[in-house]
Amino acid sequence: MSNIKFFSGEEFPLEMHKVRIVQKLELLPIEERLECMKKAGNNTFLLNNRDVFMDMLTDSGVNAMSDRQQSAMLVADDSYAGSETFVRLKSKLKEIFGTEYFLPAHQGRACENIISQALVKPGTIVPMNYHFTTTKAHINVNGGIVIETITDEGIKVNSYNQFKGNMDLQKLEEVIENNGSEKIAFVRMEAGTNLIGGQPFSLENIREVNKICKKYNVPLVLDASLLADNLHFIKVREDAYKDKSIREITMEMANQCDIIYFSARKLGFARGGGIITNNEDLYLKMRELVTLYEGFLTYGGMSVREMEALTVGLDETMDENVINQAPQFISYMTEELIKRGVPVVTPAGGLGCHLDAMKFVDHIPQNQYPAGALASALYIASGARGMERGTLSEARDEDGNEPLANMELLRLAMPRRVFTLSQVKYVIDRITWLYENRHLIGGLKFVEEPKTLRFFFGRLEAVSDWQEELVKKFRQDFADSL
Ligand code: F0G
Repeated sequence: MSNIKFFSGEEFPLEMHKVRIVQKLELLPIEERLECMKKAGNNTFLLNNRDVFMDMLTDSGVNAMSDRQQSAMLVADDSYAGSETFVRLKSKLKEIFGTEYFLPAHQGRACENIISQALVKPGTIVPMNYHFTTTKAHINVNGGIVIETITDEGIKVNSYNQFKGNMDLQKLEEVIENNGSEKIAFVRMEAGTNLIGGQPFSLENIREVNKICKKYNVPLVLDASLLADNLHFIKVREDAYKDKSIREITMEMANQCDIIYFSARKLGFARGGGIITNNEDLYLKMRELVTLYEGFLTYGGMSVREMEALTVGLDETMDENVINQAPQFISYMTEELIKRGVPVVTPAGGLGCHLDAMKFVDHIPQNQYPAGALASALYIASGARGMERGTLSEARDEDGNEPLANMELLRLAMPRRVFTLSQVKYVIDRITWLYENRHLIGGLKFVEEPKTLRFFFGRLEAVSDWQEELVKKFRQDFADSL
């Protein structure tokens, strides 16, 4: 894909696959979309998927499988213990990451539960480039404290830095020095750093992080859920690795880490998760927890069919022409929106295109949830659903105060191999219309606010009749179009 030059000069991503199984989509008229959004309490998590045209909520468990993955599912070995499917997956992981031990788990957060229970003691610290919601929750539940030591560039919405997911080495060393290495449970690096816009770290950076970990004798844990995007970015952005194969890059990265875990809902185009390591002591410590929480060691809560699909999906992840599809689509979408003046996170990362709601709807105060309001408005305008990543996703403190998020983002995830370029063009068109009419978008207020993880089930309503006004304007501009 990346090697293709176009005669016309126009640059666009070209799919290196063809579609052979399809799912029918509906695009409801805007009046019905407004009704659906209201019924869902202005929360995109509460929409029924049958009412959604482009499901850009997440890339988790919704990536398209290949024909090879589907056919592998037919030869899965269902035996409770010693399944051949497990042996195949374990040897694929060894082939790719060079790891001897594999612990299966039902998804990424289950791995986080096991790693945290094994390594985090009350009062210990886990420095990391950036947290992910479920990661932090598991570390906190076990009494640990998360300290983010990302570079300052990482948390800027707009930057020219190509590796915004990099760890700040000085900050990391200071945290270890100031607290004493015995207080550090482990250091965590997250590939394709999710909450800051799917931003990668460089291979050079993780090598330096590993040197620090070795110096202080603390384990380095890699969250490889979004590894595919990160591998692609190392290949195309890091000069020293442009002539290395994806397999070589992966092996070198794996060699830096003591433990690697992943959500196979993201990595490997399947559903499940796993922990791999070469450290026998750590393996034995975590093994008991797999049988306690997940299932027997040779399936760990995963369906064997998904495990077979994962084995093939991991192999496909080693193909640059496969893993560059999502980042290239995201880059196209981001660049087209920039041309139209729409504020987005830059540079484009993996995972999805991120709209900067703080600028998009700068007239909406943060306590009226600008990113949540934008998510609601975009669904009404287009039938596409994204995910709020801002103040709504934050939790109140013990006194009930609401912390305001550093960034107000609307994440529009790009599930791998799922959308066509014309669908992406459609959503770009509707976002552009919405941006032209941004003054019509108003805030939201809670009508039902759950105590924990309020963004999942919380219900909100518009602070005025702005949604009806938006529908009116849409009808004026688009006549009877859907
Ligand atoms: N780590 C990262 C970096 C993730 O993005 C996720 C999930 C997890 C761990 C947890 O994995 O869902 O399989 O338990 N991210 C999803 C998302 C939920 O939509 O970004 P899981």
